Amino acid sequence: MSTLVNHGNAMSDPMVPAPTASDPSASDPAVSQPGVPEPAASVPTGATALRQALAERFGEELKIEEALPGLEALTRIAGHRSHRRFLPRPIEPDLLRLLCACALSAPSKSDLQQADIVIVRETAIRQAIVDTIPDMPWIMDAPAFLVFVGNGARLPMMSKRRDKPFPNDHLDAFFNASVDGAIVMTTFIQAATSIGLGTCPISAIRDYPRIVAKALNLPPRTVPIAGLCVGWPEQAGEITPRLSLSTTVIENHYGERDVIAEIEAYDRRRAALRPYRRQRRIERWGEASFYGWSQDKARQYAEPTRTDFGTFVREQGFRLD
Ligand SMILES: Cc1cc2nc3c(=O)[nH]c(=O)nc-3n(C[C@H](O)[C@H](O)[C@H](O)COP(=O)(O)O)c2cc1C
Repeated sequence: MSTLVNHGNAMSDPMVPAPTASDPSASDPAVSQPGVPEPAASVPTGATALRQALAERFGEELKIEEALPGLEALTRIAGHRSHRRFLPRPIEPDLLRLLCACALSAPSKSDLQQADIVIVRETAIRQAIVDTIPDMPWIMDAPAFLVFVGNGARLPMMSKRRDKPFPNDHLDAFFNASVDGAIVMTTFIQAATSIGLGTCPISAIRDYPRIVAKALNLPPRTVPIAGLCVGWPEQAGEITPRLSLSTTVIENHYGERDVIAEIEAYDRRRAALRPYRRQRRIERWGEASFYGWSQDKARQYAEPTRTDFGTFVREQGFRLD
């Protein structure tokens, strides 16, 4: 596969660490990172660790009681980071299966259970997927690679078998299966992180979904949500700042607000903590004197991407109206 469009993430994403030994994310002292050995002294614990992680993430000091139960789990969740470099250490099949079981224990819309996990063990299958995404070497390097699938096939199958009509063949059917798949992937990430594994979701598998569908022999009415690299992290990684909580946590209802000003404040906060290492598509857009998140995302989405995904989803047998 050679004619490739740019991907939403990966090497085309200036935030993704370039594969060099001098990656500053290797020495992020701000948060305890599960699975990565911590230096004995000066690593914050308890409420302090959680407060620091969230301050780094959101630029806000949250009030956290030292006696709050579950601080360790919360700190792990708050300290999330995607990992793209892994130690050459395999993951035991039994352990992977255990994580899948935990992930599939997630809630499911109407108990419909419309998520599947494909564990891609065969190198040839993984290679077929990787060939469509040559700028993400971490997919091949990861000790394990999974694909999370939304499966809308079983429900109409059961309707037919039970001799019932199925008048709900519309966008919601696709949406429900996709949401279930995404929730299961998120739960897998949480489960994996809790035992010290690192993960990186890969939506780039949807750049060439037909190739992925063929490689995985996807049945009708199933859709790949994302891939997931899984492995023992080579380095601690770093917290990526997010939009402030005043932007994304809404009390009761959306009111009047200056979203542009909020985004620009985020651009500045993020640039101070985690500046982009390079600018996207300088040949098209020139070099910006200030390059923040909103500039990067605007440039990223100035390129057409996955424009025929809807067609693919329809080919898979979903109706989207
Ligand atoms: C649905 C989804 C798809 C993603 N796809 C990719 C991908 O194709 N390649 C990649 O390197 N990272 C991918 N990521 C990881 C994001 O780039 C990452 O979550 C984001 O930059 C924030 O960084 P953090 O996870 O370390 O907080 C994806 C994340 C999600 C949730």
